[in-house]
Order: sequence, then C-alpha cells, then structure tokens
Amino acid sequence: MKIPTGGILFFDSGIGGLTVLAETLPLFQKQIFFYYGDNDRAPYGNLSMEEIQKNVRGVFQELDTLNPRMAVLACNTATAVCAEDLRMTLPYPIIGAEPAIMPAAKNGGEVLVLATRATCESERFCRLCDRAHRLYPQVKIKAVACEGLAGGIEKNVLHGDFDPTPYLPRERPTSVVLGCTHYIYVKKKVEKFYACPVYDGNEGIAMRVHELFDKNTSKNGIGRDGRPLKTPTFGLNDAKLVFNPKKEWKIARREQIFHKKAYLSAHLESFIIDRNGNQIFFLGTQKKHNKHIFEQMFVKCRK
Ligand code: DGL
Repeated sequence: MKIPTGGILFFDSGIGGLTVLAETLPLFQKQIFFYYGDNDRAPYGNLSMEEIQKNVRGVFQELDTLNPRMAVLACNTATAVCAEDLRMTLPYPIIGAEPAIMPAAKNGGEVLVLATRATCESERFCRLCDRAHRLYPQVKIKAVACEGLAGGIEKNVLHGDFDPTPYLPRERPTSVVLGCTHYIYVKKKVEKFYACPVYDGNEGIAMRVHELFDKNTSKNGIGRDGRPLKTPTFGLNDAKLVFNPKKEWKIARREQIFHKKAYLSAHLESFIIDRNGNQIFFLGTQKKHNKHIFEQMFVKCRK
C-alpha cells in the first residue's frame, strides 16, 4: 500500500489534538490528514522548554518525508513553546492552538484560563494576556496550571467516570478558557463544575485550517506553492511503502529506499476514511491507540 504525501498534519503530545482533528474534518472532503501523537512522551506540560522543543523538532524532522501541505500544532503547549521556531524552519504553514481568551473576555468579569504549566509560563501566553488586557482593560485574567490533568485525561479518556474536579482550582469565574486540547474531553464536566461558559479554541483552529487551505487553492487546482491540490490519492505520490519478507516496512522514494521507523508505515489498522471521504493516517508508535480513541470518541468510520 502506498502512503500519500501532501496531507494536513496534526500534531499533539498525545490524544488532545484528536479533538481538533474532529472539529476540522467536517469542513473537508476527500483530503488527506495525518495525525501524530507523541503519547509515549506525554504529557508535555511539565517538561522543560528545551525538552519540548527537542521532542517537537525531532518529530517534525521525522515527518518531513510526508511533505505535509500544512501542519496544525493541535497542542497549546507545543504552540506556546515551538510555533515560532517551526515557522522559521519549515517550508509549509504552521497553524497553532492558543487559549481562546478573547471571546471569553467579551463577557467581562474574571476569565479563568486552565492550561499546562509550560503554556502558562511561556512568553507567548504572556503576550496573549497583554493583548487581551489592552483590549479589555476591565477584565481580570487568571491563569492556573492544572498539574496532572492532561496526564489523567490521557490515561482515562475512555473511562466516562474520570473526574477532573480534583485538578480544578476553586474559583468563581465569569468564564473559563480551556487552554489545553486534552481538557476538551472533560469540557462538560468543567462547565458543570464552574456553572459558567467554557471556551476552547477548536472551532477557530478548524476554520483557520480551512481558510488557509482554501487560500492556497486556485481554480485550476494548483496551489500557490505550485503543487497540485486535487484530492491526493495513493497512486499520485512518489512515496510508497514496500513490505519485505522480514516483515519490515520501508519507504521507497524517488528510487531510493530509506529504512524508516515503523511509525511511518501505513498499516491498514492505523488508517480510516471518514464519512466525508477524508483519509486519516495515524502515525507514531501509538497510532493504533490514537485511532482507537478517535473512533470511539468522534467518528463513524467507513473503514
Ligand atoms: N494537549 C496539550 C495542550 O494543548 C498538551 C498536554 C500535555 O501534554 O501536557 O497543551
């Protein structure tokens, strides 16, 4: 089976970005998506900036062979720490995830932002808070790092009885912002706990991905980067997977054969087609796990 290139790549430390993918897919038809979760090293939130940068850079280097059309950092932590770095080094657009403070601030009062420690301590997040303060000077913004919550969700997502409330600060905010894509799995429970509006950035990210994809698409199906934007199919691409008798997958690309780690293989069990005909390839050592979570939580699949 050949693996397509030129898809839209979603990255998260683990399962959080699946919530962003789920929000994005209905806006597309017959496109290629890749999902990479770095679950083995999740959660990222308490790692140092250097460790997060090293992990994310490493993953993007490994995935370079897929030649993504654009990438979505479906992770507030990775965005806070790595977005600028990746934008300077990669040739394709990078869309990030940022806490949805602005829509929440419109309600006035106190905005409680729940995020990971790395996000709360990042310069990028401070700049976002400054911008919000300038626009809504009366609004009080309080950011709290929910230690352990992303890890708890990562482990317990399929257990409907997981209780996030021990991780939540005791506050009486006007609005709450979920500044971590993992937290979106427990959004309803957070709403119930605070009895106030709870915001996340997923709709905004999905719209941005769609807008950027559209912008790059001209009428004749050639993108601004000169690459064909017609629905990629397995046969169109120069990267294909070859199965050898030693049960090892290799990628044959431009007549050279590169041994690649198993996660770049397109085993059928890590691939689905959604009801819009989008093809989603799950990558990384936890690809089967992420696919399973995605199917359980979000998609009625055709395959
Ligand atoms: N899902 C991620 C975020 O949006 C990171 C969670 C973690 O790995 O700590 O921040």
